[in-house]
Amino acid sequence: MTTIQWFPGHMAKARREASEKLNLVDIVLELVDARIPESSRNPMIQEIVGAKPRIIVLNKADLANPQATQQWLNYYHEQGLPAVALDAQHSKGLKGLEKECQRIMAPYFEKQRAKGVKPRAIRLMILGIPNVGKSTLINRFVGKNQAITGNKPGVTKAQRWLKMGNSFELLDTPGILWPKFDDPDVGKKLALTGAIKDQLLHMDELALYLIQYCRQFHAETFCKRYRLTKEELESQSNVDVLLQVTKHLGLKDDYDQASMRLINDYRQQNLGAMTLDLVSERAV
Ligand code: G4P
Repeated sequence: MTTIQWFPGHMAKARREASEKLNLVDIVLELVDARIPESSRNPMIQEIVGAKPRIIVLNKADLANPQATQQWLNYYHEQGLPAVALDAQHSKGLKGLEKECQRIMAPYFEKQRAKGVKPRAIRLMILGIPNVGKSTLINRFVGKNQAITGNKPGVTKAQRWLKMGNSFELLDTPGILWPKFDDPDVGKKLALTGAIKDQLLHMDELALYLIQYCRQFHAETFCKRYRLTKEELESQSNVDVLLQVTKHLGLKDDYDQASMRLINDYRQQNLGAMTLDLVSERAV
């Protein structure tokens, strides 16, 4: 696998840009890919966000295994981290996200009310690595109610706010973080889910990783799709399985093409909704 350096400079830049915005908001929405909730996080997120309330938003939940998503939600809740599942593309789960924001802000607004101050809109920003759905969420969140409020004073760079009713204001530009993938498996998961470019990795490596994963967790679906018997899958190495799949697909010895087909099958959910990061691995 090609190793891509995770530059400390990236981190410093991300932190600088995020902190400028952090001061303006009540809650950070940390967007991750529900298929790889941990691999699609920036490991320094806690340091970047500091004490600011944060909700982990497991986006693309429509592509993930629902049981695994529930396990991740439980896992984060156990750690005292608010987390919700979302399918931003189809606007599913937005109400749950709004409710969670309101729950977090309730004690603050209660205090304000006691002082005779009326509750104001909750200010939010989105933070996440590329391709997790930040722009999609911004568009869906604001929907038809889109209105841009004036710039707030005291900010070095102009920040624009998108307004949703009277309840929420969202910074129109998300904070972008870098994924960290010096762990080869994390790199493969990011590539399989499309978070990093295909060209960065060898297709056959990704395909072999996928075969290994399916062998462990989705053997039946895999065998059905590529017309293998359970015994054939169990008795052969990952490489031999790839060779057999290549033949089955009528691609002679074009393993790259076969690998790409496998990867596309994963991405298009022809192998089912699969979550590649498992809570059980995390617990271990
Ligand atoms: P970013 O700003 O974080 O970089 O991500 P962006 O919103 O551009 O989304 C990246 C891709 O993920 C887009 O697909 C988008 O449609 C898709 N996406 C975002 N949220 C969801 C979701 O909840 N479920 C699913 N299934 N897909 C989601 P694309 O192929 O790059 O573009 P297009 O399909 O919109 O043309």
